[in-house]
Amino acid sequence: MTTISPLIAGNWKMNGLSQSLDELTELAQLLTTGEAPRAVVVVCPPATILAAVAAQGASSGIMAGGQDCHVEASGAHTGDISAYMLADAGAQFVIVGHSERRASHAENDDIVRAKAEAAIGAGLKPIICVGETESERDGGSAESIVNQQLSRSIPDAAEHHEIVVAYEPVWAIGTGRTPTLEEIAQMHANIRARLVERFGEERGNTLRILYGGSMKPLNAREILNVDNVNGGLIGGASLLAKDFYTIISSV
Ligand code: 13P
Repeated sequence: MTTISPLIAGNWKMNGLSQSLDELTELAQLLTTGEAPRAVVVVCPPATILAAVAAQGASSGIMAGGQDCHVEASGAHTGDISAYMLADAGAQFVIVGHSERRASHAENDDIVRAKAEAAIGAGLKPIICVGETESERDGGSAESIVNQQLSRSIPDAAEHHEIVVAYEPVWAIGTGRTPTLEEIAQMHANIRARLVERFGEERGNTLRILYGGSMKPLNAREILNVDNVNGGLIGGASLLAKDFYTIISSV
């Protein structure tokens, strides 16, 4: 079995002003004074403080990521940010296809795939999000929905080492509810099987599959111990340095 170095990413969503850099300072202190983290650590702040997070995080090994990018490199797209701009600001990752963007910005798999392509073109690693809604799970179609999102959202030309996949059940995001460990294991095994189909046995087994949705200090350890869970994408609990550090230390 290939070993995959886990990745813990914090998605700050639309939270964070310049004073939030204090949390980053605290996180950096915890990471450099405590036991060396056994995970790659990424913080995805709002774009307004991305450059500051990238600059400040560099000395403590915290990497920066964007939360979204435009499909084009530049042009007449008022208010949008391209993958090249994120890279220019110091990002190494970018989240694409988060369910909040799929829902409130009508992003479909074709758009998500184009964004992932743009990210790779700019030298960023896209964290490609997939996940079913509650009614899709209740209706028994969680796996088929996720499989469809996977096959359509991963760019055809993407290499296995260029992407990260995040499974985020929509109904678990910000609700305090999570799937059971068995349900997480089953979905992650399903995603792994699809990635192996697509990239081959060896390569498909080296791709990171993150879990996201109400991961907290109290449940992180058990979730991160589930087979094929190679890290987490953390929303609310990434906003406080202590909580985020506890999750990182649970790896
Ligand atoms: P919460 O951890 O707040 O549930 O958010 C998860 C998420 O959407 C991360 O992208």
